[in-house]
Amino acid sequence: MKILIVEDERITRITLANLLNKEGYEVDTASDGEKGILKAATGAFDVIITDLRLPGKGGIDILKAAKESNESCVVIVITAYASVETAVDALKLGAYDYITKPLSPEKFISLMNNVHDYLQIRQENKKLKKRLERIENKSVIGSSPSMRKLLETVKNVAEHDYTVLVQGESGTGKEVIARTLHQQSARRDQPFVAINCAAIPEALIESELFGHEKGAFSGAIQQHIGYFERAHKGTIFIDDIDDFPLNLQVKLLRVLQERQFVRVGGMKTISVDVRVVCATKVNLEMLVRENRFREDLYYRLHIIPLHLPPLRERKEDIPALVGHFFKKLGAGNMLTHLEHSFYDNLMAYHWPGNVRQLENTVERIVATTDIGIAATLGAGNDLFPAETGQGAPSSNDQYPPYEEFIQEKEEEIIGWALEKTGQNITRAAELLDLPRGTLRSKLKKLNRFRE
Ligand SMILES: Nc1ncnc2c1ncn2[C@@H]1O[C@H](COP(=O)(O)OP(=O)(O)OP(=O)(O)O)[C@@H](O)[C@H]1O
Ligand SMILES: [Mg+2]
Repeated sequence: MKILIVEDERITRITLANLLNKEGYEVDTASDGEKGILKAATGAFDVIITDLRLPGKGGIDILKAAKESNESCVVIVITAYASVETAVDALKLGAYDYITKPLSPEKFISLMNNVHDYLQIRQENKKLKKRLERIENKSVIGSSPSMRKLLETVKNVAEHDYTVLVQGESGTGKEVIARTLHQQSARRDQPFVAINCAAIPEALIESELFGHEKGAFSGAIQQHIGYFERAHKGTIFIDDIDDFPLNLQVKLLRVLQERQFVRVGGMKTISVDVRVVCATKVNLEMLVRENRFREDLYYRLHIIPLHLPPLRERKEDIPALVGHFFKKLGAGNMLTHLEHSFYDNLMAYHWPGNVRQLENTVERIVATTDIGIAATLGAGNDLFPAETGQGAPSSNDQYPPYEEFIQEKEEEIIGWALEKTGQNITRAAELLDLPRGTLRSKLKKLNRFRE
């Protein structure tokens, strides 16, 4: 807490400064109004104690200058008994309190300690507000029993440093859960570093994760600090861990066990303090059985497994998610225009792309809807994915019978592949990822077989 004392009486100035110094506060002084204003205007002080009556500019001017440069500065005015009225004016202008002369050292120190507590609480409050904002912005929506249970587990394990493995289909919110874990842990003010193994070329994964020394390989023109080091004291989120190269899995295992590694081309052992959260769309156990994933690493990752259910298994979360996405896009007012059939459509669909697909759908609605909202968002619009899932009867009348529909599509895609490949059946089959024989028999059936 930095304090400025503006007081023309030398004795008072020195006495106050000494008292505060003894209490361990950092103190600066000014002996008249002009000097006081100059110092106050820097905005460098948490607290300014000023006499009201000073040669040159008075205490009220200092109060104004202080508040102008630093609105949260605490100003205390000193006044003689006779001019308490002026002190009250100062309070109206935002002074924190006033003290009267002659000064009582005990009262003065007790007041300063109160100010100290006040500033600390205010600071704390600011931090809490920030955190609350963060939580509100990034909140995880989900009140279905499965999500509730999952969020309860997240809360319980967040504080510990256990490695967490988040499993779930694409778009179910694996990264959202990883971030929530980080936010709810003591590491929240430290970095959250997210990397996606599927997005980094395999040859680069090692140096991206663990860093490299200058000259480690051709192209390593300078030292590179990897993601693990950048996540020091925070959380590292490794997405698509199933894509982690087999030959690097030992190195990852060592980091998980000892929190130590060596940069590529380096000698020095680097120690890091990181919480590791991984995510996978595929069943790692299956990869272990196929010898594509180390069993020991699997058990290390599997300490706390979290399973994110697909959206179709927690449809009751859909309305809240829809509300959340509309609001996130600043289109909360559109919610009142949504018809019941709108939700019916959403609930009937099976959402193969999960929450991300739902979010994209809402984005499209917001982007394409302006007038006639109620009509557009009712039943029978083209904003929904064409397919309405199992047993959704609402759009049956828009489609030809199943077999006919499939045949038509088949013809269309085969025609496209043949055209692309200059009518070369072998290459068309490759393009469609079909055995050549299958394509031939399909062509026969479609009466398109020409040889
Ligand atoms: N429970 C939820 N509440 C609010 N938003 C969510 C929720 N789940 C997912 N989302 C949103 O859905 C989108 C996809 O989520 P996220 O990226 O976490 O999914 P993912 O499982 O990591 O997907 P992928 O497997 O494709 O990497 C994000 O925009 C995210 O904000
Ligand atoms: Mg993801």
